Amino acid sequence: MRKNSFCNMAGIDYPIIQGAMAWIADSSLAAAVSNAGGLGIIASGNAPIEIVKNEIRRAKKLTDKPFGVNIMLLSDNAKEVAKLVCDEGVKVVTTGAGNPGKYIDMWKEHGVKVIPVVASVALAKRMERAGADAVIAEGCEAGGHIGELTTMALVPQVVDAVNVPVIAAGGIGDKRGVAAAFMLGAEGVQVGTRFLVAKECTVHPNYKNRVIIAKDIDTVITGKSTGHPVRVLRNRLSRQFQLLEKQEEPIEKLEELGKGALVKAVKDGDIHNGSVMAGQIAGLISKEETCEEIIEEMFDLIGLKEKLSELI
Ligand SMILES: Cc1cc2nc3c(=O)[nH]c(=O)nc-3n(C[C@H](O)[C@H](O)[C@H](O)COP(=O)(O)O)c2cc1C
Repeated sequence: MRKNSFCNMAGIDYPIIQGAMAWIADSSLAAAVSNAGGLGIIASGNAPIEIVKNEIRRAKKLTDKPFGVNIMLLSDNAKEVAKLVCDEGVKVVTTGAGNPGKYIDMWKEHGVKVIPVVASVALAKRMERAGADAVIAEGCEAGGHIGELTTMALVPQVVDAVNVPVIAAGGIGDKRGVAAAFMLGAEGVQVGTRFLVAKECTVHPNYKNRVIIAKDIDTVITGKSTGHPVRVLRNRLSRQFQLLEKQEEPIEKLEELGKGALVKAVKDGDIHNGSVMAGQIAGLISKEETCEEIIEEMFDLIGLKEKLSELI
């Protein structure tokens, strides 16, 4: 595949970012994606700084290709991680859940490429003005924390509003999704849910199997009332959560229920009482594969090119 401007900017072969996934996207997954030609990302989530540092150092041993670190701006140690990536010479930073504006100058001084996740045109424009190198426009089909707009509606509007490369995220699970993202004007894709079932992904096998057997309508959104909506696979926990929200219980009660829930699913494999974050595209995903197989399939676009020329 021909490298586009985003590939050249990130130093990668295929215009695909492996989405950060808190407590899941570690050095094993990130290095495997980078070795396969994409951009692997280590998710820092709420992890202690020492763990993040170790993961960065381990990734450097596993790959000599560029990889990135994702910073959840809501987390208590976001500022420390923001500095750590500079000290460790990380090439790319992606950010989730907010506006990383106050760190951008520091990252630029250290030559770190900055790619924030945005869920609106307004934030995309603000990020471009603040010096972002690209933006990830993430639609609400995605797993994890989400905004309001769908990928189909958000991506072309962001593409028209900014001059930096736009990476499409949310609901992209195979080469048809990749082709659709390009047709909307994106220069790359970010994929989370499909990489959950990658062979190199160290998430608990129960979590992987739950994604593999998921049907199209199996995800629900919890946490709308807290201002932090999250897309998860339906289970006992999501039902409890939705009941509390319906009863308009205080936010503290909801936060208590959500505390440690992702780790419960990711590490202990408790897919009934833990938070099994995944996107709507889970219904399309049917088997475990290596990162290399996933990326090769997603960019095998020749057949689709012929199909398009038949249609138009
Ligand atoms: C389990 C899970 C955890 C996630 N955690 C984060 C995170 O820590 N930071 C972030 O910016 N995005 C996070 N995301 C969003 C992904 O990085 C990515 O944008 C999203 O999964 C893309 O949509 P898809 O799930 O349809 O592939 C998470 C997604 C999932 C499924």
